[in-house]
Amino acid sequence: MSELFKNKTVIISGGLGDIGKAIGLAFADQGAAVAIGDIRPAKESKSFLLELTRRKVGFHYEQVDVADAKEVRNWIANVERELGTPSLIIPNAATVTLASACEITSMQWAREMRINLDGAFHLAQTCANRLLHHSRAGRIVFVGSWAASTPHPNMAAYSVSKAGLRMLCQCMALELASQGILVNEVAPGYVDAGLSKTIWKKNMGLYVQSRKKVPLRKLISPEEVAAQVVHLCHPQNKHMTGTTLLMDGGLSLLC
Ligand SMILES: NC(=O)c1ccc[n+]([C@@H]2O[C@H](COP(=O)([O-])OP(=O)(O)OC[C@H]3O[C@@H](n4cnc5c(N)ncnc54)[C@H](O)[C@@H]3O)[C@@H](O)[C@H]2O)c1
Repeated sequence: MSELFKNKTVIISGGLGDIGKAIGLAFADQGAAVAIGDIRPAKESKSFLLELTRRKVGFHYEQVDVADAKEVRNWIANVERELGTPSLIIPNAATVTLASACEITSMQWAREMRINLDGAFHLAQTCANRLLHHSRAGRIVFVGSWAASTPHPNMAAYSVSKAGLRMLCQCMALELASQGILVNEVAPGYVDAGLSKTIWKKNMGLYVQSRKKVPLRKLISPEEVAAQVVHLCHPQNKHMTGTTLLMDGGLSLLC
């Protein structure tokens, strides 16, 4: 185990999802204490927390709905008490509703914005304010998507939420740069996990089609996404802020 992030705490929303877990383990492997929040009940976190225990790092799990600003604030206060102020902040929780812009209900639309965009904002804003309060540097890495800049049918709410996230990343990067808080985004294409896998499970034809469409002819693993998140948090990254690290196997070149 490397000690690159020893004495640092990473906080990850949607941390029981496929990409969230890979990010948690990647930071634990480098010595960070890991705080996970997810809407899933605590009993669903047990096997993952066992993996963190084996890595001998501090950890904290809390059931939290990121759409609720107060729940997010309480979660962060509890993490701060147990593991110290998180300086590596990873807004990752998201959901996707497959429905056309004409058919999606206003409730579905609002819920998706509240989770994907507002939820990421609640986590990033509260943690940034805690760092400012302690005059500490830090890193925020949003987990976005290539869908932020490439329109897809039946995914308007998701794409709009991720496009908003990209602008939030740039605005926060500009505002926080002078305080030593670097803000970036990782934007994956098709990851063979999580949200995409759930869609593909219902439609194997779409899975084969998606795979063939990627110019590099490969799907991304959650571990590869995690490696790029860690890369943006690396102490040697002193100058990248407000950027999007697009890792889509060349998909967006087709558009
Ligand atoms: N899988 C892909 O192909 C892909 C591609 C590009 C970007 N992404 C992004 O990666 C991130 C992780 O997605 P994933 O593919 O691992 O999906 P996932 O479904 O495995 O993980 C998402 C997690 O977020 C949690 N969550 C949902 N609503 C929540 C809420 N209100 N509060 C707290 N937690 C909540 C879920 O319980 C789940 O554990 C997302 O931001 C997603 O948009 C995924």
